[in-house]
Amino acid sequence: RLKVGVVISGRGSNLQALLDACARPDFPAEIVLVISNNPDVEGLRRAERAGVATETINHRGFGDRQSFERALTAAMEQAGVELVCHAGFMRIVTADYLAHWHNRLINIHPSLLPAFPGLDTHQRALDTGVKLHGCTVHYVREEVDVGPIIGQAAVPVLDGDDEDGLAARVLTAEHQLYPLCLKLVAEGRVQVEGDIARIQGPAAANSQIF
Ligand code: GAR
Repeated sequence: RLKVGVVISGRGSNLQALLDACARPDFPAEIVLVISNNPDVEGLRRAERAGVATETINHRGFGDRQSFERALTAAMEQAGVELVCHAGFMRIVTADYLAHWHNRLINIHPSLLPAFPGLDTHQRALDTGVKLHGCTVHYVREEVDVGPIIGQAAVPVLDGDDEDGLAARVLTAEHQLYPLCLKLVAEGRVQVEGDIARIQGPAAANSQIF
């Protein structure tokens, strides 16, 4: 089973979806370490309840991004991590970290990229009047919220939606999409060719419409 490290900043509901998937005996990945940059967050308690090792590596204790990231990498290497999943990790990462984990680092973002990179994706979707919104799992590159797309899930934007309602609908889709994409990666079915990730083998349901 592929050894996965999950990096979080808070609530950890996507982490929970990954923990639940990895608890299934036939799932091709296992989570060996969960790291949070914020102390005392719900995501750390989720990992503890699942019996998974946790570390808090608080970025505030480091002089610069690079030394914080070196600590992340060292902890994950120590744990034998082969693939890193960012799951609600709210820090920008820099070149050395990305080079170390090149094509071994994936992220979930709450929009249908390339629409709405960055923050406040749900409010911006509402303000723009798009009728489909959703989430994306992608390999991480130096530009924020850019990188080969592994899978996407779309949800409708409904008349009368507010930010919280739309966010909740997208989050439900995230919890389906992230384990599915992790499974594809762990099975070795995702091939990165330049800016494109291609899925090998039988139909993968890596594009979902809810
Ligand atoms: C999720 O919606 C995730 O897509 C988003 O933060 C939320 C974390 O929730 N990530 C980003 O915005 C990354 N820039 P969770 O902690 O419950 O998984």
